[in-house]
Amino acid sequence: MTTHHPEPAYLDPTPTTTDHATAGYLTDEATGPAWRLLLGDACERLTELPDACIDLSVCSPPFAQLYNYSPSPRDLSNSHTRGEFLDHYGYIIREQLRVTKPGRIACVHVADITLQKVLHNVIGLTDFSGEIVTAFTTAGWIFDGRVTIDKDPQAQAIRTKSQSLLFVTKDRDSSMLRPALPDYLLKFRAPGDNTVPIRSDVSNEEWIAWARPVWLGIRETNTLNARLGKEAADERHICPLQLDFIERCIRLWSNTGETVLSPFAGIGSEIHTAVRLGRRGIGIELKSSYWHTAVTNLRGLDAHQAAPTLFDTPTLDPDATPDAEPACTAGEAR
Ligand SMILES: C[S@@+](CC[C@H](N)C(=O)[O-])C[C@H]1O[C@@H](n2cnc3c(N)ncnc32)[C@H](O)[C@@H]1O
Repeated sequence: MTTHHPEPAYLDPTPTTTDHATAGYLTDEATGPAWRLLLGDACERLTELPDACIDLSVCSPPFAQLYNYSPSPRDLSNSHTRGEFLDHYGYIIREQLRVTKPGRIACVHVADITLQKVLHNVIGLTDFSGEIVTAFTTAGWIFDGRVTIDKDPQAQAIRTKSQSLLFVTKDRDSSMLRPALPDYLLKFRAPGDNTVPIRSDVSNEEWIAWARPVWLGIRETNTLNARLGKEAADERHICPLQLDFIERCIRLWSNTGETVLSPFAGIGSEIHTAVRLGRRGIGIELKSSYWHTAVTNLRGLDAHQAAPTLFDTPTLDPDATPDAEPACTAGEAR
């Protein structure tokens, strides 16, 4: 049952919109045979998990204030400054370390963030990925790898309308040209020895491709459908994480049957992939419409996995006569 909590005053000292006043704070929980989805603030809900219960986490945090997901002051994307965002995220990063088993991995999906003329009076980039590395290492994680996720510059030019990618910029003054912005996978390891070796099912051919510092073949459109997560008249948008990215992380850095965490579960992409690949999943999501969609997505997967397939072998009756007339045809007119 969803629980409604009044917003504590310290979280919003200067409420300026009715949104803040009415949004409130909801918590809830849904479970399936191999998953648990917690509705609420990851800062608080992570504290409910015992020490060292997580084998791997995979997530895409809000990219500071780049996209706003909800009006809640608990939403990391509603930070007023980058410093406030990093302070807020620090609570989650520290709890994530507490709940992770020694020697195990956290995979974080990030991208660097642009400075725009209209907002910042300058065109340029900020080293958001570097700030996330500092936030994790400050919290005690070991920085253990960075993979660049290749991007299609033409698709990015169409989507973002960035002047920095256009032929006209090249022809006018190429000092303002820059390559497409990649995404990154940042890999962190919890200190201590890993006591259960990870026996990956990744083939040698796959590892030859995935050992590259640049991952090719992450399909940008291969995501869980976000449509159901959009509330009416809500222009705030979700960016579901590419399933290929999640799948590589889970197959590389967890065993089947182990538990995968996403503290920013969104519509459930990481937990859905974990369960589909035979792992268990725990997700936390603040926004109730996304959480409801995640629950629907996971229940759909459960139903799909429970359904017999064309190739399932029916239970054979040892007493049946092989040549007997099939029951459905008995007595039927031919
Ligand atoms: C980049 S999206 C994650 C999308 C997710 N990977 C997916 O594929 O659906 C970031 C998410 O963090 C959530 N979020 C922001 N602040 C949060 C908090 N304090 N606790 C839990 N979730 C939060 C947002 O509502 C948003 O769904």
